[in-house]
Amino acid sequence: MSDTPAETSPNAPDVAPDAWSGVHRGPLRPGEWVRLLDGKGRRHNICLEPGKTFHTNRGGMSHDDLIGREEGFTIVSSSGGEYLVFRPLLSEFVVSMPRGAAVVYPKDAAQIVAFADIFPGAHVVEAGVGSGALTCSLLRAVGPFGRVSSYERREEFADVARRNVGQFFGGPEGETHPAWELTVGDLAEALPASGDRADRVILDMLAPWECLDAAADALWPGGIVCAYVATTTQLSRFVETVRLHGGFTEPQAWESLVRDWHVEGLAVRPGHKMIGHTAFLVTARRMAPGEKAPMKKRRPAPGAYGPDYTGPRPADVPVDLPE
Ligand SMILES: C[S@@+](CC[C@H](N)C(=O)[O-])C[C@H]1O[C@@H](n2cnc3c(N)ncnc32)[C@H](O)[C@@H]1O
Repeated sequence: MSDTPAETSPNAPDVAPDAWSGVHRGPLRPGEWVRLLDGKGRRHNICLEPGKTFHTNRGGMSHDDLIGREEGFTIVSSSGGEYLVFRPLLSEFVVSMPRGAAVVYPKDAAQIVAFADIFPGAHVVEAGVGSGALTCSLLRAVGPFGRVSSYERREEFADVARRNVGQFFGGPEGETHPAWELTVGDLAEALPASGDRADRVILDMLAPWECLDAAADALWPGGIVCAYVATTTQLSRFVETVRLHGGFTEPQAWESLVRDWHVEGLAVRPGHKMIGHTAFLVTARRMAPGEKAPMKKRRPAPGAYGPDYTGPRPADVPVDLPE
């Protein structure tokens, strides 16, 4: 098998700018971010500037030697260090960008896009925006004809998110993705005040149950509420609050675990390291006004709502006293 020699392959045409994908093809341009990967797996993100030098512990390399080349090449620094050069993928960008708050990891952003069914043209409300990692995936999924209304109550995090989203989608003259609007404020107050309706509401915050009424009032019938919570106590409280509200289907809760595999000749085995836990996800669908989902036929597990349970309790669930 052989590859086409670089000299004979034409440059790739750029991705249409009005797709707002945050992706470029073709020769690397000044002002673009690239990612350098050394032999030990260390990553460096640099913004290309004509005339500038990037200093590594294996000597320097001139940005001019990268500008104008098609990504996917190896460059050697002045003291012989080899670096692989690519534009960063969205999944790489969000884990290396500056952070104000913890980010939604790419494996979970993928689950949210798939199971909260984020579609081109959708109106998605999200809070909090934190560092803007999930925002980037949501914007990618709704596209320029959709809308992502992000709410963040801390101005300093909103600033970090503006910079990160701006950097990823990088419009001309600091223009940001046309589907994005960011409101600094508490979703529980600011969303009802906006009068907005939405197809999806995604909650990534410490107390998502405090925003459930606002989410329920904003969602169109058939819409989806999705919460991303780090602990089992948050998971329980959110799920029970959704049940207590009564205007949603039975909530679905899950987590995803991703395990890398080492594949080398006859040594094919799971990797030794993995991220053990990020967060749990919960989704439920909004019923039409005045409609209730059928009650669960199954009785709660014995003791599930016993005297020790102090969380939200749907009206039809009595205290389960020991026999
Ligand atoms: C874990 S961070 C969100 C991370 C973000 N989803 C990302 O992927 O980068 C949680 C954020 O929610 C914000 N927050 C908490 N409660 C909120 C509320 N009721 N309305 C708006 N923002 C809220 C916090 O200030 C914090 O920045």
